[in-house]
Amino acid sequence: MNLKDCHNFEDFKKLAKKKLPSPIFHYIDGGSDDEVTLNRNTEAFNDYDLIPNVLNDVSNIDMSTTVLGEKIDFPLFPSATAMHRLYHHEGERASARAVEKMGTIFGTSTMGTVSIEEIGQINKGPKSFQLYIHKDRGLTDNLLERCKKAGFTSLCLTVDTVVAGNRERDRRTGFTTPPKLTLANIIHMTEKGSSIDKSVIDYINEQFDPAMNWKDAEYCVKKWNGPFALKGVMSVEDAKKAIDIGCTAVIVSNHGGRQLDGSRAPFDQLAEIVDAVGDKIEVILDGGVRRGTHVLKALSLGAKACSFGKGYLFALAAGGQKGVEKILANMKTEINRDMKLMGCRTLKELNRSKIIHRRN
Ligand code: LAC
Repeated sequence: MNLKDCHNFEDFKKLAKKKLPSPIFHYIDGGSDDEVTLNRNTEAFNDYDLIPNVLNDVSNIDMSTTVLGEKIDFPLFPSATAMHRLYHHEGERASARAVEKMGTIFGTSTMGTVSIEEIGQINKGPKSFQLYIHKDRGLTDNLLERCKKAGFTSLCLTVDTVVAGNRERDRRTGFTTPPKLTLANIIHMTEKGSSIDKSVIDYINEQFDPAMNWKDAEYCVKKWNGPFALKGVMSVEDAKKAIDIGCTAVIVSNHGGRQLDGSRAPFDQLAEIVDAVGDKIEVILDGGVRRGTHVLKALSLGAKACSFGKGYLFALAAGGQKGVEKILANMKTEINRDMKLMGCRTLKELNRSKIIHRRN
């Protein structure tokens, strides 16, 4: 099996499983507790059906949209995820190049394994930096200043990881970050350089600040002073607060089912959030996205765009830059074909008239 045999998410996952040491594969693939939320994230899409229109001249399709202040070629982008060098030796260098080539937003994590400055050199397209607030608050200012200088176009504050989820697969496999990845490599901002031969979970629990609150988020919005996404918002109440503190977007997400098991799937919760705040803030759907039709369903309910994590990490493991390019190209082709089959020429035509809950 190689890249040319990868036609969909499951294919990339199969190839990644062959290529990766088992604990690393399961670190990507797993969720928390009983993985109910992890599974529901994708299953949720199957409770809704698309309703196509026909005879609408779909010879020209425009899939472009504007998200977080940047025009992108199609309404999907990879979520920022940690430690790409665990999955492929080129790490974020490969994913950053692939994403620029495919014309969408690249996200790099606070726990990235290539420096902010180098990402800025490699990827001249739209770029988002994903921030975790550490107990050492001085790190935040330093990171944001470096991101500005490196040409990052937006900031994404993840707020669903005040403590790490209960990743039982990682305990069983004994997953730890290889000691060769020093703290200096893993965490862009630190110069301490002690080796991190502990689990990511221990790192999160020791370093991330559970005291983080709305004032801190507001501080980041002001300090960044540019397009800003709050990621991990699930309630209408929080989505409204995100507007109050000046966010550009909320990313409806449960961290890929890796944090609170039993929390609602983003797609199940999407309509409620769109109905409450969709006219005031961009709503981005993250989690469970495997198919072009999933993106179309989310947009029909009112999402501006979607993001996905596991899919492109499996693709990165499966084939580095080429792998990430291929999964994004596959998804772009699916979205294009599905729009034609839906009779939609622009993303605006995807609206509530195009989707129905199966019970109705
Ligand atoms: C995770 C964190 C690191 O989900 O984002 O493992």
